[in-house]
This record gives sequence, C-alpha cells and structure tokens, in this order.
Amino acid sequence: MRILIAGDPQDGQLARALLDASRARSGIDLIALGRPRLDLLHRASIADTIDDVRPDLVVNAAAYTAVDKAESDADAAFAVNRDGAGALAAAAAARGVPIVHLSTEYVFDGSKRGAYVETDVPNPLGVYARSKLEGEAAVAAANPRHLILRTSWLYAPYGQNFLRTILRLARERPQLRVVADQQGAPTDAPHLAEAIRAIAARLDAQRPAQPWGIYHAVGGGETTWAAFATAIVAAGARLGVPQIPVIPITTPEYPLPAKRPANSRLDCAKLERVFGVRLPPWQQGVAECIAELESVPA
Ligand SMILES: NC(=O)c1ccc[n+]([C@@H]2O[C@H](COP(=O)([O-])OP(=O)(O)OC[C@H]3O[C@@H](n4cnc5c(N)ncnc54)[C@H](OP(=O)(O)O)[C@@H]3O)[C@@H](O)[C@H]2O)c1
Repeated sequence: MRILIAGDPQDGQLARALLDASRARSGIDLIALGRPRLDLLHRASIADTIDDVRPDLVVNAAAYTAVDKAESDADAAFAVNRDGAGALAAAAAARGVPIVHLSTEYVFDGSKRGAYVETDVPNPLGVYARSKLEGEAAVAAANPRHLILRTSWLYAPYGQNFLRTILRLARERPQLRVVADQQGAPTDAPHLAEAIRAIAARLDAQRPAQPWGIYHAVGGGETTWAAFATAIVAAGARLGVPQIPVIPITTPEYPLPAKRPANSRLDCAKLERVFGVRLPPWQQGVAECIAELESVPA
C-alpha cells in the first residue's frame, strides 16, 4: 500500500511521526511531502504530486496550526485549512483515492458536560477552529471516501508543542503558571500515527462498504493543561529538568487571542468499535516521548 502524506517530514509533527511509524513496519510505502513540492495553496503541485506518487491513500497532515496568529490572519488560515484541504480531497477523489484528513476538538465550544461524540453539534470559538470545521465540510463534499480524524493537544519529541515548551521553560524559570480549568487529552503524535497506520491497513482490506465519516482519535484518559505540565516536569527529571512547581491558574489569568474550549474531551468509542483502534493512555505517551528525548544525543 502506498500512502501520500501532505505535511513536512521534518517540521510537521504528525507527518514526521507517520514517516517513523512506516519505517518500523513493512508493507507500507509512505511518502511525506511538504512545501514547495506539495503546497496546499497551489493546486498544480497537488495534482502533479498525486500523479507522480500514485498513492492508494492520501493523509492530510498539513495545516495552518498557529491558533492565536489565525485570529489576525484569517485569510491564510482558511486558504490552507478549508480551501487547501478541499483541493487535496478533490484531487484525490478525481483519481479514485480516499483521504484521511486531520481535524481538531476545537470545532466544539466546550460547553458540553461530558466527552464529545462525533454527532455533537460543533460551535467553533475562534478563526482557526472555524477554518478547520469548514475544512471538514470541504473534504467531505469533495471526496465521499474520507475519514476525518479529530484529535487534541498533539505533541511529539520534535516540532512545536506544549511538552517541548514546558521542558524548555522549566529550565529557565523558578515556577510555571499553567491553566487548570481546561480539560482534554494530550495525544502523542507517534501514537496517533500508529492508529492511522492501523486504520489504513483496515482500509486496504478493500471491503466493499467502508465506514467513511468522522472519528475522534485522542490519547486515553483526560487531564488539564496544569496537570499535563506537572507530569512533563516530573518525567523530565530523567533529562535533568529542574523539579520546579507548576502553579494552577484560570484561563482569564492567561489571556490569549483565540478562545479555547473549557472542555476538550473527545469520546473515541466509535474509532474502537469500527476499527478496533484505541490510543494508549496519555501518560504512556509522555513517558515514551521523554524516553525518546533521552536517547537523542545532546
Ligand atoms: N498540534 C495540535 O495540538 C493539534 C490539535 C488538534 C488537531 N491538530 C491537527 O492535526 C494535524 C497535524 O498537526 P501538527 O501538529 O502535526 O501540525 P504542525 O506540526 O504544525 O505541521 C503542519 C504542517 O503543515 C504544513 N503546511 C502549512 N501550510 C501548508 C501548505 N500551504 N501546504 C503544504 N503544507 C503546509 C507545515 O509546513 P511548513 O513547515 O512549511 O509551514 C507543517 O509541515 C493538523 O490538521 C492540525 O490542525 C493539531
């Protein structure tokens, strides 16, 4: 099976994790391409790349992910997350190729008491979130053979993410103040990549009716940003990270341009029921990520 990943194989967290996951397995020929070779803003690059690679499946791990910058840069966010995603899905559809597209729990406003299921009504709070929700619709309209995977709080040993920021700040500051009133599930990019690989293997079985649609795919369990930060600092002891205190604060005490949902929890039962895929507990992801960082020579 040949899979084309849209996303930079060095700088894109999920694109890189997918590439690593495929190296660990035989039977998957995976190609990850970022800009300029595959630029979601340039339709010719999309068409040329799909024609060159001739994939059995496209995974869209490329996105405009600067959540706060998007508030003052809406055109750029929508160009990539809605129009670019739609163009990639359409180009794949024109060649009879299904697409796995990544989305976010930010499509919800966080007002639900329990974990969100796929049929809950979205209500995005910010520009990035709206651009991702409209991207879901664009992908679904352009390519009926789509899987939309909503994930949350993604991190990896590389790229720009909360875990790496906390490790850096813990070395620079005497204490950290982190919001404790937003709940969600940290998702280890290698765990999500492995889930996508397992899903792709099921699709490869060429069942006549595939369960296309929206799925939630996040790390197991739930926590708050403050508790996540506390776990990162504790696990970081293996890296020599000073064991500084993490002070829980409220969202209004840490104002940001984009509003975030207070409840980011996603129910992943559908993914397990349909594909038999469940991501490991988020704490396992933190431990594995720190172990990976420990193994990298300084
Ligand atoms: N990070 C999170 O916490 C989180 C949470 C929920 C959902 N998600 C979703 O999960 C997916 C993967 O996120 P991630 O964290 O892996 O993102 P990431 O690390 O920010 O990587 C995004 C990739 O998209 C590329 N990209 C941006 N504009 C592009 C364009 N016009 N054409 C081609 N590539 C372009 C970037 O390349 P450049 O280096 O060239 O800019 C980068 O390689 C995204 O759909 C994101 O919305 C992320």
